[in-house]
Amino acid sequence: MATQDTVAELTTDDAPVKAPGLEGVIAVESELSFIDGQKGELIYRGYDIHDLAEHTTFEEVVYLLRHGSLPSQAELDEFRAHLQSERALPSPVMDVLRNVPDDAHPMAVLRTAVSTLGLYDEEADMTEEAANHRKADRILAQIPTIIAAFDRLRKGLDPVSPLDHGSMAHNFLYMLNDEAPGEAAEEIFDVCLVLHADHGLNASTFTSRVIGSTLSDMYSAVSGAIGALKGALHGGANQEVMRMLLDIDETGADPAGYVKERLAEGERIMGFGHRVYDTMDPRAAILRGMVKELSEEAGEMKWYEYTSAILETMKEETGIDPNVDFFSGSTYYQLGLAPDLFTTIFALSRTAGWTAHLLEQWADNRLIRPRAQYTGQHNRTVTPIEER
Ligand code: SDX
Repeated sequence: MATQDTVAELTTDDAPVKAPGLEGVIAVESELSFIDGQKGELIYRGYDIHDLAEHTTFEEVVYLLRHGSLPSQAELDEFRAHLQSERALPSPVMDVLRNVPDDAHPMAVLRTAVSTLGLYDEEADMTEEAANHRKADRILAQIPTIIAAFDRLRKGLDPVSPLDHGSMAHNFLYMLNDEAPGEAAEEIFDVCLVLHADHGLNASTFTSRVIGSTLSDMYSAVSGAIGALKGALHGGANQEVMRMLLDIDETGADPAGYVKERLAEGERIMGFGHRVYDTMDPRAAILRGMVKELSEEAGEMKWYEYTSAILETMKEETGIDPNVDFFSGSTYYQLGLAPDLFTTIFALSRTAGWTAHLLEQWADNRLIRPRAQYTGQHNRTVTPIEER
C-alpha cells in the first residue's frame, strides 16, 4: 500500500506509469487534510485529529475545513444559526421520501434525495463562490433531515421536524428518536462526525472532485460522492462490520475462529486494511475507546470483547490493522442506530469534506482526466452485417 512518499517511482519523463487504482498517485494539491500512513496520523488544516476530536465540535470542524481557520465564538454562533435555519426540506423532497420503497437502502434514498434537492434550489447551477458556500451549508444542514425522515417513514412514523436550535448531532438524534439525546450520546456522536469529516483523496472525495472538475454542479458532485461511499470497500464497510458482529453474537461463534475461517476461505474482513495507512487508523483508536466507554456504561461488554478478539486475530493472522469502519459500527449500534443507517452517517459527516474539496477544486480547477492503457485489438475491418 503506497504512501505519498513513493510518488516519484510512479512517473517517468517519457510517459505516465500505470498505477492500478491510482495507488500512490498525487492527483491534486490540497490544504484540507493530510494522512501519514506510516505514523498513523491524520490532520485537518494543520490540527491533529486527536486534538480536534477532544476540543472541537463538528460545526467547528466544518467551518475549519471550509474557511481555513477555527471560528471564534461569534463566528461559530452565526454559522450554527445559519445551518439551523436551513434544516427543513422542500416539501417535494419530503414527498419523494414518502414514496420511495420502505426497503430501499438508506444510501440509495440519500443519493436520490440529494439529487432531488438540486431541482428545488434556484442557486443549483450558480458558480459564484458565495453561492457554492450557501449550497454547501444547505446540503449539510438538510442531509440529517433526509436520513431521519426516511428512517421514521419506513417505520410508519411521521417525520419529526428539525429543531431551530441545538447542534447537528443533537438535532439529528432528536429527529431520529423523537426525543432529546442524552449528553453523553450527543457528545460521542459529535466526535464520530468530527472523525469522519475529511480524509484526503478517498474514493468518494475523488469522485466529487472529478465531477466538480468538469464544472458540473455541487448537487451532482455530492450525489456522485454518496454513490461512491455506498460501496462495501469504502463507507459501506461499517454496516458489513456490524453484520459480522451480529452474526457472531447470534450464532455464539468464537470471534477468533470466525475470522480465521473466513480468512481461510479467502474472504476479506470488513473494517480492516487501508490504501494509505500501514498502521492503525488513528480514528479507529479513538472510536475503540468510545466502544469501551459505551459498553461499560451499558454494562454489556460483548461488542468491545468481540471487536478486541477480532482485532488481535487479524493482527496475528494477517498483520492488518483496523480502519475507521471497524469500530464506528459498534459505536453507532450502541447508540441505538440501525446498521443500514451507518453509512448515511458517514455521508452526513463527509459532506463537510466533499464540499470543502469542491470549493478547493473550483478555486484552481483543471479537468481531472487520467489515461487508460488500451489492451484491446487493433487493425480490424468491418464485415458487412449480412456476412457476420
Ligand atoms: C474507508 O481511502 C480512504 O481514506 C477511505 C476511508 C475514508 O475515511 O474515506 O478511510 C474510509 O473506506 C476505509 C476502508 C473501508 N473498507 C473496508 O474495510 C473493506 C475491507 N478492506 C479492503 O478491502 C482493503 O483493505 C481496502 C479496499 C480498504 C484497501 O485495499 P487496497 O489498498 O487495494 O489493498 P489490497 O486490496 O491490494 O490488499 C492488499 C493485501 C491483499 O492480499 P493479497 O491479495 O495481495 O494476498 O491485503 C489483503 C488483500 O487480500 N487485505 C485483506 C483486507 N484488506 C486487504 N485481507 C483480509 N481482509 C481485509 N480487510
